[in-house]
Amino acid sequence: MDYALIGGTGIEHFELTDQRVISVETPYGTVEPMIGKLAKHDLVFMSRHGRDHATPPHLVNYRGNIWALRELGVRKIVATAAVGSLSPNHHLGELVLLDQFLDFTKSRPLTFYEGGQQGVLHVDMTEPYCSSVRQVIIEAAKHLGLVVKNGACYVCTEGPRFETPAEIRMFQLLGADLVGMTSVPEAVLARELGMCYASIGMVTNEAAGIADHPLNHAEVMQNLKELEMNVAQLIQTTFELLTPGQKCLCASANAEVGKF
Ligand code: HPA
Repeated sequence: MDYALIGGTGIEHFELTDQRVISVETPYGTVEPMIGKLAKHDLVFMSRHGRDHATPPHLVNYRGNIWALRELGVRKIVATAAVGSLSPNHHLGELVLLDQFLDFTKSRPLTFYEGGQQGVLHVDMTEPYCSSVRQVIIEAAKHLGLVVKNGACYVCTEGPRFETPAEIRMFQLLGADLVGMTSVPEAVLARELGMCYASIGMVTNEAAGIADHPLNHAEVMQNLKELEMNVAQLIQTTFELLTPGQKCLCASANAEVGKF
């Protein structure tokens, strides 16, 4: 199992050939991803919020999920993320690959390396999202004639509430382009275990105070529905083009401490 797809809001289901749910025991509890085949590859599909979207962003078992993927042998992860736009450069309905993040989460375990036996790892985050996997997604988009932008700064908020307009103004000043609630610690944990990780942002709304109306989850879901087909094709073609080796630095990210 070299490859995994982590489906965010709107991508709770993904049709695989020969699919079945399996149970993986992790130090963080039991995780139940789907395995099957996509584009001739064995693939793990994990619905981040659960198949019925029952788990809010701050309660997702990020460590269990990422640990389970590593346990299954995964080296490359493509994730999706519903995002609001803070930037005049990113519009409703766009697909944008994240390339930086700002972390404004508050209550989540952020690392596998808790000291003691596990050691301490200050993992490098110069390039938080794997540029090699992003490049393959861009190639896939070209094959399909889809416009996918490569590069945006994502601010991760704790949620589950949406932001205040004052927060959004602050995030704009700090250089954020897109806002969501899940990419941290997911991207960090994948890096800690040496896996490549890229995330496709799906712009579902203008952020609070930019939109001329209050935000609601129904609007986000409706706009995701319109993006679903394109994203499914993009994911399928990306996995057709991905190759197993890791020529990037992701694989050696924990070399200083090792352990896992
Ligand atoms: N804020 C936070 N998370 C989100 C948003 C938003 O505006 N839209 C989709 N996920």
